[in-house]
Amino acid sequence: MRWLGILGLVALSECIVIIPLMKMSTMQKTLKGKNLMNSFLEEHAYSLSQHSANDQKFSTHPLSNFKNIFYFGNISIGTPPQQFRVLFDTGSSDLWVSSVFCLDPGCGKHRLFNPRGSTTFQMTDRHMYFCNELGQIVGFFGRDIVQIGDLVIMNQTFALTYRQASKILPLLPFEGVLGLGYPSLATTGIIPVFDSLMLQKVISEPVFAFYLNNKKGYGSVVMLGGVDHSYYKGDLNWVPVPKCRYWQITVDRISVNGKVIGCSSRCQATLDTGTAFVHGPIRLITNIQRLIGARPYHGYQYSSISCRGSIGIPRVVFTINGIDYPMRTEDYIVSITSSLCFSAFLGGTEKVSKSETWILGDAFLKQYFLVFDRRNNRIGLAHAV
Ligand SMILES: *[C@@H]1O[C@H](CO)[C@@H](O)[C@H](O)[C@H]1NC(C)=O
Ligand SMILES: *[C@@H]1O[C@H](CO)[C@@H](O)[C@H](O)[C@H]1NC(C)=O
Repeated sequence: MRWLGILGLVALSECIVIIPLMKMSTMQKTLKGKNLMNSFLEEHAYSLSQHSANDQKFSTHPLSNFKNIFYFGNISIGTPPQQFRVLFDTGSSDLWVSSVFCLDPGCGKHRLFNPRGSTTFQMTDRHMYFCNELGQIVGFFGRDIVQIGDLVIMNQTFALTYRQASKILPLLPFEGVLGLGYPSLATTGIIPVFDSLMLQKVISEPVFAFYLNNKKGYGSVVMLGGVDHSYYKGDLNWVPVPKCRYWQITVDRISVNGKVIGCSSRCQATLDTGTAFVHGPIRLITNIQRLIGARPYHGYQYSSISCRGSIGIPRVVFTINGIDYPMRTEDYIVSITSSLCFSAFLGGTEKVSKSETWILGDAFLKQYFLVFDRRNNRIGLAHAV
């Protein structure tokens, strides 16, 4: 998750519109002949899922969309269940929610987990600590039952925050983050939610998928444990994830009008659903802004761009594993108000990594259907319907 991109955005926008939430059906399928199926699955990782959606234990979980920047959904924790809205984030691996122990204004308007209200809650002696552009978030870890739609995880370790020194959290319509990154990215020794789903055999396949719809405030989903193939058209193109830490892949090149403008000798990119924009090295981002007609916006790290886009402004094409993934004008023009728009490109990843690294956030990801495959450590991309 890169919060950098949102701070100024929210502060700038005069009215924060909370888009009405919309309910979609959550489904769970029962698994027949589990052992038989597991061994079969190992041999036919994907050919099977093309045909067998009905036999699978997986959940298609609705996500709400806040300003096409944040995609969050409901989960519940405890007995009886306490409901929370969490950001589903491929760029981190811990689960945390605000708790009744947090007295900061950053927690005030949110739902707060009360461990005394849960008969299944257990304390641990572990602490969570984050300090980033968002602010300072401190919590302690506890264990309880976590439910995502119909998927039930027993004994999930999660953090209850007691400190959220943050200006931005009070403005956001969710009170926690559910990290879907690899365990190596989690607080040491804490088993992430998706790993619990796999270990406890709550899901039948070690995959999850995102469909991030940008047309309306609703309709986006995260699928846990399987893939509903009706959400994409054409083929899934698989890209290996070499290091099991971030959901990071190799990009062949980045081009505009057929001319390579970045990543000229391959580079790395993290696919991060918890990041709003597309981040790259400042030098290359500055060049892209010039090519698409974006100008520095006074006092902010953003560049403003005409909301209508000017005629002939080009697409920015990311080539991954030999396939072109373009960002069109409508994908990289982010509307803040009816007359103020920003370019979705932001500089600054050289602070994160010395080599050329990009972070592909929702502005890029929402055009594609994305499958994150933990068994084969690869990501599948297809055109979203
Ligand atoms: C979350 O739950 C609330 C009810 O508490 C419901 O109104 C809302 O639609 C749900 N959100 C999603 C994305 O399903
Ligand atoms: C709960 O999980 C922890 C580790 O995450 C483990 O040490 C403990 O034994 C588990 N408890 C039960 C009852 O499964």
